[in-house]
Amino acid sequence: MCVRYVPSVHDDGYFDERVAARYDESAAEMFDPAVVEPVVDLLVDLAGSGRALELGIGTGRIALPLAQRGVPVHGIDLSEAMVARLRAKPGGEAIGVTIGDFATTTVEGTFSVAYLVFNTISNLTTQAAQVACFRNVAAHLEPGGCFVIEVGVPELQRLPPGETIRAFHVSETRWGLDEYDVAAQGLTSHHFELVDGRLERLSVPFRYTWPSELDLMAQLAGMRLRERWSGWKREPFTSESRKHVSVWEKPADSR
Ligand SMILES: C[S@@+](CC[C@H](N)C(=O)[O-])C[C@H]1O[C@@H](n2cnc3c(N)ncnc32)[C@H](O)[C@@H]1O
Repeated sequence: MCVRYVPSVHDDGYFDERVAARYDESAAEMFDPAVVEPVVDLLVDLAGSGRALELGIGTGRIALPLAQRGVPVHGIDLSEAMVARLRAKPGGEAIGVTIGDFATTTVEGTFSVAYLVFNTISNLTTQAAQVACFRNVAAHLEPGGCFVIEVGVPELQRLPPGETIRAFHVSETRWGLDEYDVAAQGLTSHHFELVDGRLERLSVPFRYTWPSELDLMAQLAGMRLRERWSGWKREPFTSESRKHVSVWEKPADSR
């Protein structure tokens, strides 16, 4: 068996042509209407009569159904390859997308809601970039507007003492291992997949954060926590929660 290691980072970041071509299929469970609809319901509520900004819009998993519900959506993404898949879908051409890094890229106008889902804040691998992202979002929100993040709680309690690697997916054709660097607050997800009899590997670096660190980033950007749930149906956030959906607001009296 041949193992193909794909280590390079292209202009498209880690979501290059090869990843984009299989993204919807490999994340199929995240496209299930039972997963997507509660996300869209909450974002429709938060958007009100305003516009929505999606950071890391990807292939439009959330943006397309949100736009279909009547919310004007604009996206930012690094990956031309991912955005090409969005463009090829019904309604995709009508969604404005700016290619760039969502920590720093600016777009025209203001928004009543900005959102960053599916752990994508962790794709920014330094604290400085994550802080810049919060500041960038705050600059795009209208007073009273909200920033929503969906991200996992670091799974350090599940890491046996002294070990650094934890399996997050094991099946007949796919294996996923998370490798922690606790001192640097880093996490590399190693994906191995059998594709046409070949084993392919993709390793993607992340920076994990506790909810309280994100609250501090929001504070630095002039926002404050409005809500924190463990899911999109507003389930309570507890010590057992594996992820959180957090909503920060830009004060209505800010400029
Ligand atoms: C896990 S996918 C999520 C896509 C989509 N939001 C969804 O929920 O299916 C992450 C997306 O964020 C984009 N991305 C990652 N880091 C980025 C950055 N620093 N600036 C802009 N886009 C970025 C990737 O290109 C990719 O399209």
